[in-house]
Amino acid sequence: MNFLRIMFYKMILLLLPVFFTAISVSYTDANDTCVECHKNIKFINQNRVLFDYYRTWINSTHEIEGVKCMDCHGGDPTKSDKKKAHKDNFSSLTVTDRFYFEKIPERCGKCHKAVLKNFTESEHYKVLLKKGTGPHCSTCHGSMNADVYYTSVISRSCENCHNAYTKNLPAVAGEADKILHRINVAHVYKRWVLIDYLDKDPVKVEEIITLYKNVAESWHTFDFEELDQKSQDLLNKIKSLVSRGPLARK
Ligand code: HEC
Ligand code: HEC
Ligand code: HEC
Ligand code: HEC
Ligand code: HEC
Repeated sequence: MNFLRIMFYKMILLLLPVFFTAISVSYTDANDTCVECHKNIKFINQNRVLFDYYRTWINSTHEIEGVKCMDCHGGDPTKSDKKKAHKDNFSSLTVTDRFYFEKIPERCGKCHKAVLKNFTESEHYKVLLKKGTGPHCSTCHGSMNADVYYTSVISRSCENCHNAYTKNLPAVAGEADKILHRINVAHVYKRWVLIDYLDKDPVKVEEIITLYKNVAESWHTFDFEELDQKSQDLLNKIKSLVSRGPLARK
């Protein structure tokens, strides 16, 4: 019986993205001239880079959550004429653009408030504003698909700036690797805890979601001393819950 119930929730969790994609695709197709025009496959030949931006957005978490081109770029998604649709300034290389690199954190932070708050406290943000050498959101997450990268990809991205040659904290990539590994393991366990407690104990479910979110968000302070502790606590807590559930008893 338990097994069937677990399988049922598992199916729902797995299928949710499929449903949402189906809904949001039909919705954007009907209403959004940005998507309507940018998805044209003629761009594969005419302007490959342009098409690739569209392709990274489609099926991304943002697309699934209904975050449209306009939500990040501005413009007028009701106009089919390119000039009218592109009414805002669109080049991320000019200071007046909303995606001038220094302004990216603020932009993303309109929706990701807790991440922005943590990030603005980091040395990375200060160096970004002062010298332009610190990373911003898109340095790590890409422009718009907003991947949460695998551990190995992330530590490699740190090594772009933190390595023996630059002498800028070369040990940091290794530390990031350790902490991210814990967060990732916690992420996997979290799914099982959610399935397990979904109907039994919604308060517990809420508690775990909050705890996980708190650690994932405070990652952006890059305060590794604190994160070392916090990530270990998170993992212990989640593991202890799993060991009491039917999953562990099986
Ligand atoms: C009728 C087609 C069409 C529509 C509608 C359209 N675009 Fe574009 N867009 C293009 C083309 C073609 C380019 C390539 C550069 C150019 O030709 O201006 C482009 C370029 C861009 C760029 C890159 C900036 C640049 O100057 O290269 C962004 C960002 C962009 N579009 C976003 C949007 C958004 C957001 C919307 C909706 C509000 C939108 N587009 C609507 C065709 C369109
Ligand atoms: C979550 C926010 C977000 C969404 C949603 C988003 N973009 Fe972007 N996009 C960005 C950011 C940030 C950049 C610029 C960062 C950079 O320079 O790499 C960018 C860059 C681009 C560029 C290259 C612009 C340039 O200056 O060269 C194009 C083209 C583009 N986006 C098109 C689109 C289209 C079309 C959509 C919808 C199908 C879309 N974007 C949705 C955030 C977003
Ligand atoms: C209009 C609101 C909005 C804007 C602007 C926005 N996001 Fe998001 N983003 C969301 C929502 C909603 C989600 C899904 C729920 C969540 O994870 O918080 C999300 C999820 C994410 C995720 C998690 C992806 C995953 O697979 O779990 C990352 C990373 C992310 N966004 C980065 C960015 C970056 C970087 C920018 C700026 C370039 C940005 N976002 C701009 C609304 C937004
Ligand atoms: C130096 C790299 C780096 C920078 C800069 C960065 N992030 Fe992240 N971000 C990460 C990593 C690594 C994770 C994955 C932690 C995890 O597994 O949840 C993450 C996770 C996230 C998540 C998902 C959190 C969750 O609930 O799982 C969001 C949303 C996000 N970042 C948004 C942003 C925004 C917005 C900015 C800019 C204000 C930003 N990030 C800057 C590396 C970075
Ligand atoms: C675009 C370049 C760049 C990237 C990519 C980058 N950093 Fe940094 N980082 C810097 C700079 C610049 C400093 C400031 C060093 C200084 O104080 O002189 C810094 C400082 C730090 C510090 C010290 C913070 C403090 O409070 O003193 C940590 C920790 C750190 N980075 C972790 C990371 C991690 C982890 C990653 C990968 C997920 C990463 N960085 C990616 C440029 C980068």
